Amino acid sequence: GGAKEPAPATGSDLIVVGYAQVGAESDWRTANTESFKSTFVEANGYKLIFDDAQQKQENQIKAIRNFIQQDVDYIVVAPVVETGWETVLQEAKNAGIPVILSDRQMKLSDESLYVAWVGGNFLKEGDDSVTWLNTYLKSVGRDNEDMNIVLLQGTIGSSAQVGRTQGIVEGLAKNPHYKLLARQTGEFTQAKGQEVMESFLKAYPDIDVVFAENDNMAFGAIDAIKAVGKVPGKDIIIISFDAVREAFNKMIAGELNAAIECNPLHGPRVAEIIQTLEKGGTVAKIQYVVEEVFDQANAAARFPTRMY
Ligand code: AHR
Repeated sequence: GGAKEPAPATGSDLIVVGYAQVGAESDWRTANTESFKSTFVEANGYKLIFDDAQQKQENQIKAIRNFIQQDVDYIVVAPVVETGWETVLQEAKNAGIPVILSDRQMKLSDESLYVAWVGGNFLKEGDDSVTWLNTYLKSVGRDNEDMNIVLLQGTIGSSAQVGRTQGIVEGLAKNPHYKLLARQTGEFTQAKGQEVMESFLKAYPDIDVVFAENDNMAFGAIDAIKAVGKVPGKDIIIISFDAVREAFNKMIAGELNAAIECNPLHGPRVAEIIQTLEKGGTVAKIQYVVEEVFDQANAAARFPTRMY
């Protein structure tokens, strides 16, 4: 032995992290918040200042300004939308506070305004969802049928919406059997997803496939489909994103056909970036998380090990 145990961190030497969170709009978001709250604890040497912006950019900008005022050591942002961040990030830069982005990305004129980003590849998720549909329809011998499709989009202007919509729309355009009837935002919430699906079902009595840009909107769509006497997962194929635990329950129950994974457990990933920076190291600017595709064929087997 000989080596001494490090002294427990005291108030003054904790690393102070401000997290500007989007809101609490989905199961995914709750798991993401929990990941940060359980990672950035005193026992790990951190003090976390958490802000929930209720899906409003102006609230996030206020939160970032508060973090700057409090002279935190790091600012972490999950930006609600992609654009409009230059001014406040410049203020953080002027104050010498490193900014780390997580989950959604920003579109910036100056990439030096943040140190690193870690999150899911939304465009790839969108691609994967159409690839899943192609493979599935082939496997059930329906690949020569025309398909009427609707799309429930996430928060317009969020990189999760932009990437997934692009992947889906471009993927669908490659198949002449696919007809995208309508797309509309359900704001990533179950309530809005249900409402928009109800209006889709009224306007288009013959929908074959729904893409929901997150699980919670799919849960709302499932309720809307049941309410008109149709069977979700059978009469209408439903594909969503995130793959939270409730999505596995719905796949096992046959009501949801596929869930494209978006992993929310970014707390430890951001902590690793901070630890590297603390040691004076360099970090990769763009860090994509590896994500899978789940459906009714593998849901039951994979459910027990799911972390969110
Ligand atoms: O940015 C990630 C997305 O935001 C998740 O897919 C969605 O559930 C959340 O609201």
